[in-house]
Amino acid sequence: MKFDKPATDNPIDRLQVVGQPHDRIDGARKVTGTARYAYEQHDVVANQAYGYVLGAGIAKGRIASIELDAARKAPGVLAVVTAREAGDLKKGPRNTACLLAGPEVEHYHQAVALVVAESFEQARAAASLIKVEYVAAEGAFDLNAAKDKAVRPEGDDPSLNDTHVGDFAGAFASAPVSLDETYTTPDESHAMMEPHATLAAWEGDKLTLWTATQMVAWGVTDMATTLGIPKQNIRIVSPFIGGGFGGKLFLRADVLLAALGARLAKRPVKVALTRPLMINNTTHRPATIQRIRLGATKEGKITAIGHESWSGDLKGGGPEVAVQQTRLLYAGANRMTAMRLAELDLPEGNAMRAPGEAPGLMALEMAMDEMAEKLGMDPIAFRLLNDTQVDPEKPKRPFSMRRFDECFRVGAERFGWSQRSAQPGRMREGNWLIGLGVAAAFRNNLVMKSGARVSLDAKGIVTVETDMTDIGTGSYTIIGQTASEMLGVDLDKVVVKLGDSAFPVSAGSGGQWGGNSSTAGVYAACVKLREAVAQKLGINSTEAIFAGGEVKAGNRSLSLASATEAGPLTAEDTIEYGDLDETHQQSTFGAHFVEVGVDVATAETRVRRMLAVCAAGRILNPKTARSQVIGAMTMGVGAALMEELAVDKRRGFFVNHDLASYEVPVHADIPHQEVVFLDETDPMSSPMKAKGVGELGICGVGAAVANAVYNATGVRVRDYPLTLDKLL
Ligand code: MOS
Repeated sequence: MKFDKPATDNPIDRLQVVGQPHDRIDGARKVTGTARYAYEQHDVVANQAYGYVLGAGIAKGRIASIELDAARKAPGVLAVVTAREAGDLKKGPRNTACLLAGPEVEHYHQAVALVVAESFEQARAAASLIKVEYVAAEGAFDLNAAKDKAVRPEGDDPSLNDTHVGDFAGAFASAPVSLDETYTTPDESHAMMEPHATLAAWEGDKLTLWTATQMVAWGVTDMATTLGIPKQNIRIVSPFIGGGFGGKLFLRADVLLAALGARLAKRPVKVALTRPLMINNTTHRPATIQRIRLGATKEGKITAIGHESWSGDLKGGGPEVAVQQTRLLYAGANRMTAMRLAELDLPEGNAMRAPGEAPGLMALEMAMDEMAEKLGMDPIAFRLLNDTQVDPEKPKRPFSMRRFDECFRVGAERFGWSQRSAQPGRMREGNWLIGLGVAAAFRNNLVMKSGARVSLDAKGIVTVETDMTDIGTGSYTIIGQTASEMLGVDLDKVVVKLGDSAFPVSAGSGGQWGGNSSTAGVYAACVKLREAVAQKLGINSTEAIFAGGEVKAGNRSLSLASATEAGPLTAEDTIEYGDLDETHQQSTFGAHFVEVGVDVATAETRVRRMLAVCAAGRILNPKTARSQVIGAMTMGVGAALMEELAVDKRRGFFVNHDLASYEVPVHADIPHQEVVFLDETDPMSSPMKAKGVGELGICGVGAAVANAVYNATGVRVRDYPLTLDKLL
């Protein structure tokens, strides 16, 4: 189905099932431990062996020699894989560094070897017997030091270009009120609960990978390229994923090494990355240095807005696209953005929840707060004065829907914003200085091609198959709700099968596109199945009403299952998009409100209340959507107050590579969180009229916390995270 005109009324609008706060249909399996994650696939193949990955002990250089004999002779060892045993490997198109080092080492903890043994403990013990001699080369590990050598990122992607509108320099220089500040955000780790893990089994030249991945089809292509085997010989199975946040968008060392280990040991092999390897072996969110310049009239109209961002990555990598939202969020006639990329030899930087906007808004929305203060304006009034209904860089291009102002108005009312003192440091409860902060939330709404197969059997059971993944987001449930609504059957009559490359290729889970795009694909397949049913029953499909397990047309009413008399019916389709997202800018909007308390003596900072108001199209399931947003808000608190990978600038690695020292918020850090979704449908986004919320929820939270801390204390910290030492 081609989606190239705004959506009209359709069966989804009945909202009998879609839009309802259904519990997760996979919830019981998850809480009873019967949902099998990659490393728990104990019984899918017999005779499983265990692999243990050894990571490189230097950040850059080469392996001079590697001594494997002791490991090979150790108890239980079945095989040892290094680059020598691996043979000719190609780099997957979505990996910046190779997944297996040798002889070159590209980053610290890049995989050097895999030991395969009868047990995990034997593999781990044998790995400690491998002796590697390295010749270390000098590397660059300090973004600040490398900043001056940073260049425009390579590649044809136009979004990497600098943007210029009007005369930024002139307008900034002559602005009656201006701000020029630099903000920094640190390297961050996804720190999802489930590690990267894979079970690999060969049957002749056919490879099956039970793995934790957000993007099944990307994984098949990338593994086929890496191993140099046909795509048809690879099957990826990924039914349950214990969190991804972008860290599982691309295949990592566990997948490749499990496949290589299984080939060499002639046994199925299971590999999980240890927590330290998750931090230095896989990807992370790159640190940024961001300079923001704002110029405005005395009345607060922005006349100049400029955003430059510096980040680093391995050679061939990409930037953190932190200027993205600044191109779209506020009006202003004179504008510029630019991204510069430095070559660093730290582990690979890549997407983490709301790549671009999450760190970008931490800078921009703090700058907006500072500018409002300079103007003597309320920070909400300042933002709304500079609201826009069109793309500020391309004024002929409207937003498909933008209820940015309403997010702030609804939020201000609900949160009691009028109680905030404009003057910082004025609200106090005992030892606690109290502050209120606000920030805009903004994230683009991407739409992705997505396919599904739907079938109907004689019992009236509807089965949906798509390679879409559920990374904890609730995909199973919203996909089930979509099929239930379209075919007029109860949700418990729908079986949802996900995460298998044997199923039609979906959008996958990334960039908050998964919910809208994957259900739109299911919608398309259901439209086809409805036509097949109508044809079998000899009725006109445009007149047919599918409800209550029946198909009604005129005064006829037939059971849905009666269409299967000659056998089950199956339909498959893919939603594809025309240029609606080019003619109309599609984005999601929100406002985050935060109240903090800061201890007047120790500067201990506690978040006391949080509210998010989101405008993100139709909310397919308010319960799972709320879970997405409160999870993202929690991650935003982490970014504001504690998350930071500490770089060892001499040796080039992240020092705090475990969950004891890479701090993320725990329950005790998070107060009551409230989420409000504006009631809206966006007919430009898909037949579902939905958008994404999973990333919108983190966007702006960091700045809202920082602005609240400033309001409490009068101390402006522009260097995230706002640890208490920076406030004293
Ligand atoms: Mo997301 S960072 O595209 O999983």
